[in-house]
Amino acid sequence: MSEIAKITLDGETHELPVIVGSENEKAIDISKLRGKTGYVTIDPGFKNTGSTTSAITFLNGEDGILRYRGYPIEQLAEKASFLEVAYLLIYGDLPKKAELDAFENEITRHTMVHEDMKTLLRAFPAGAHPMGVAASLIVSLSTFYPESQDPNRDKEAVDLSIVRLLAKLPTIAAWSHKFSERHPVIYPKNKYNYVENFLNMMFELPTEEYKVDPIVAKALNTLLILHADHEQNCSTSTVRVVGSSQANLYASVGAGISALWGPLHGGANQAVIEMLEAIRKDGGDIDKWIAKAKDKEDPFRLMGFGHRVYKNFDPRATIIKKAADDVLKALGINDPVLDIAKQIEEIALKDEYFVKRGLYPNVDFYSGIIYRAIGIPTEMFTVMFAIGRLPGWIAQWKEMLEDKSPIGRPRQIYTGSAVRNYVEIENR
Ligand code: ACO
Repeated sequence: MSEIAKITLDGETHELPVIVGSENEKAIDISKLRGKTGYVTIDPGFKNTGSTTSAITFLNGEDGILRYRGYPIEQLAEKASFLEVAYLLIYGDLPKKAELDAFENEITRHTMVHEDMKTLLRAFPAGAHPMGVAASLIVSLSTFYPESQDPNRDKEAVDLSIVRLLAKLPTIAAWSHKFSERHPVIYPKNKYNYVENFLNMMFELPTEEYKVDPIVAKALNTLLILHADHEQNCSTSTVRVVGSSQANLYASVGAGISALWGPLHGGANQAVIEMLEAIRKDGGDIDKWIAKAKDKEDPFRLMGFGHRVYKNFDPRATIIKKAADDVLKALGINDPVLDIAKQIEEIALKDEYFVKRGLYPNVDFYSGIIYRAIGIPTEMFTVMFAIGRLPGWIAQWKEMLEDKSPIGRPRQIYTGSAVRNYVEIENR
């Protein structure tokens, strides 16, 4: 028999249905509560609120489980390619060989961006943060493809927007870096796979051919898979809310990129390296910085530590830690900043403050280390996260539309002034 929740308000008891997910997750359905009782619920930061049902990603923060469409993240990170995982997230099943070939081929054929995009790029100042550039250019794609503006068009039109977005974000990302340095851009090349092509656009110079290192390409493939979806996080919820107004895919994803930018979300990977640099410049006294992180009067937090849902360990961090060790060893990297990272990790993992609060290194602690080791400039770290998260945003946007989700529009509890009359300026 299905469970029922009971709530007593103003002396009257009301029954609320309980929804049970396929992994036995339970939620009290309050969608009709206000209509029945006049009450809303309040939950700042949505810490205890399910905004949707979803069949894309299962995450259990207590047990450190992450699965895309039922497949454990550990298996996908070890065996799959990023585009295979993108297909899985967006279309629900692992692709057959012919399906994957066709998907990869379509994406490869759409990697070029309109030459007029360079005019937009030129308008940004040198040193412009690539997240600002990427968000702007992704939204502007909708103006180059006006037919994409109705998200309810036929399946072919939606699929074409999906392919264009997946194909063009790496080009836009690499070009935003090149433009910010005032270097000529490198065009995409069809001989490369998705990851190799991005690396080539990032690192090739007109004066010097770039050779893709397979260790670097493998590490990047793993990183992108680990970031590909994470259920209803800040940026994904943003994509869903923006998309729920029937805004087009490019506009919705552009909003997701902006939400990802902040240091409490995707921007943490950049913040981690900046923090490590600051500690090194300050003389490398790690105990001092750990004490600062624990001091409630001090706003400093140990970036790359803690997570809203993982309170034991982040399964992605376990995989990525090994990848980070492998990459540093294979590339023979010796970097004092990365030594500081190792020491902080060691000390914090044993420190009672961090242990008691379930604060462990999250995926961004290690992703920053790998990006630095493979030569990605610090300002590009969060853009790398956006490239990885793109399939998840697309899958969630598509699911939201197919489920005919209502427009996202929360309520509030007003705490401002009661009604008062306007007073003429001379009488105030
Ligand atoms: N350093 C020091 N103390 C911390 C940290 C940290 N990194 N993170 C949390 N705490 C403390 C808080 O001060 C609080 O202590 P208290 O209970 O004594 O008041 C307790 O741990 C719980 O923290 P909350 O902020 O309530 O946890 P919440 O779930 O709201 O925040 C968050 C999670 C934003 C990730 C937080 O841990 C944080 O700011 N971490 C650093 C930034 C970071 O690495 N973000 C990346 C997240 S992963 C991602 O987006 C992919």
